[in-house]
Amino acid sequence: MCGIIGYTGHREATPILLEGLRRLEYRGYDSAGLATLSGNTLHVRKKAGRLSELIRLVAEKPVSGKHGISHTRWATHGAATDYNAHPHIGGNNLVAVVHNGVIENYAHLKTQLESEGFVFRSQTDTEVIAHLIAYYYEGDLLEAVRKALPRLKGTYGLAVISPRHPGLLIGARFGSPLVVGLGEQEMFLASDPSALVGYTQRAVYLNDGQICVLTPERWEIFDRDSTPVEASIHALDWQPEDVELNGFDHYMLKEIYEQPEALENAMRGRLDETDSTAHFGGLNLSPRRLRQVDRIILTGCGTSYHAGLVGEYLFEELSRIPVEVEYASEFRYRNAPIEQNTILIAITQSGETADTLAAVREAKRKGIPTLSICNVVGSTIAREADGGVYLRAGPEIGVASTKAFTSQVLVLTLLALYFGRMRHLSATQGARIIEELRRLPDLARQTLACHEVVRNIAAKYYHVHNFLYLGRQYLYPVALEGALKMKEISYIHAEGYPAAEMKHGPIALVDENTPSVFLVPRGSVFDKVISNMEEIRARGGPILAITTPGCKEAVCRADDVIFIPEAPEYLQPILAVIPLQLLAYHVALLRGCDVDKPRNLAKSVTVE
Ligand code: F6R
Repeated sequence: MCGIIGYTGHREATPILLEGLRRLEYRGYDSAGLATLSGNTLHVRKKAGRLSELIRLVAEKPVSGKHGISHTRWATHGAATDYNAHPHIGGNNLVAVVHNGVIENYAHLKTQLESEGFVFRSQTDTEVIAHLIAYYYEGDLLEAVRKALPRLKGTYGLAVISPRHPGLLIGARFGSPLVVGLGEQEMFLASDPSALVGYTQRAVYLNDGQICVLTPERWEIFDRDSTPVEASIHALDWQPEDVELNGFDHYMLKEIYEQPEALENAMRGRLDETDSTAHFGGLNLSPRRLRQVDRIILTGCGTSYHAGLVGEYLFEELSRIPVEVEYASEFRYRNAPIEQNTILIAITQSGETADTLAAVREAKRKGIPTLSICNVVGSTIAREADGGVYLRAGPEIGVASTKAFTSQVLVLTLLALYFGRMRHLSATQGARIIEELRRLPDLARQTLACHEVVRNIAAKYYHVHNFLYLGRQYLYPVALEGALKMKEISYIHAEGYPAAEMKHGPIALVDENTPSVFLVPRGSVFDKVISNMEEIRARGGPILAITTPGCKEAVCRADDVIFIPEAPEYLQPILAVIPLQLLAYHVALLRGCDVDKPRNLAKSVTVE
């Protein structure tokens, strides 16, 4: 969705703003703009289309100033045009505003402001914020922002500057994330910490209802009622190289290749050989309380929801705890009875997904403990949940989630081991699991060796209109995830199904132009899946098998084969998804799709 970066300090703002916007490109956008202040002069440049258009415009008509705001817009109100791009100007060049979120009562406010003589130049909801601040302005910018905010219904992350106040940068948050980056004689404001990487390692996250007031020397945070807040400073440990391509053609491919290391990072310091269990720093619930848990609700959206589906099998097998997995968007409005010893675990890469956040808040309202499995340190969900586990996967920039998925599944495995060891898992079983987990990053490295084979298979199938993905048990969620990857980046229709469900309807789709991707490594349901392969073969559907070496039964029934290494069943999802990620990547490339920024999608979905 939209992105914000603001700066006030001793350096030229424009290169910092443009670099910040480049880092935020992955979130999805359709126009971009910036405003800088040199002395009391406001310079505004904005352009529909890619960021390169704005960069070209700024090169043609340069702007100067050590103080500025910028934005990438994902159109909601009004088309993606130059006029509708942010920043928007309030009053007679009095304030410039960039905004993430949606103002629901903008039409009503617009009518009122028009009757006061304010002239609107765009179709956006954001322009009302700029004029409203100008309307309340009587010489004090902070006061004007404070008066304007309670009039807004909806969500916002805002950055505001004014030519009357050189050096002053004001931010406000309600429902749309904002983070302040603290520098030496310079301050940054961003909607996403990845924009701050390389500039500062100290960040302060705003909570809903808070306002930040930044000058090069000072930062202050105020609550809704204008009380100063003692905000805590978080360390940003992402490095500049984490947000660069480092020789890869796309972030998605880079992140697929980062998986072995991400798995190592997710496990580091969390495996406890002495007690044959896992341990975590931030659960914030006593072992006694966790021992009482007799039901777990796993929730999330998209890929994170698929990780939750794997989690269901993991918790039931390793911990013997009943699990319910629900889309966060459904959970938030469902009024399900929740028993006393239930906990909710929210799974989210970004920690900002609006539906997942709402699910956490609903669970808290109902008085049940909440945990998050999250990648972005200090993100809203990580802060609002009672406790949680970070993925430590590093920034995930490709819109299609890859390394976050495998890290989420691994953290769920560690949690399942932890809960299991409190219940029926013996020390010997725990020790065996730890040993298997230790081998996992190497198995993931070996799996990546299938890359060339997958590339050739993609060349064979990239023209088809439909794909089916079939798996059973642990690999059923992986079938869903493989189909999601294919849909979102190649725009080919793909469906994931439990392999045996095919004959209850979807098998009608099978023909010679509809390949079925079978997840069929050696395991407890191997023979069953082989029978399901026969059913597809009998109807002339091409078969692509993801299997383990030596599985002749799968090889002889498949048109194409990709091998993954042998692993215990509960670890197979992490390995089996890797060729599916690569398949989607190569099919999308061959179809000329923008792999890292697929159409219509945003990395962090902060609207409902
Ligand atoms: C798909 C994808 C999305 C996200 C979903 C939830 O590749 O990335 O389906 O998984 O939008 O996002 P997070 O995990 O940030 O809550």
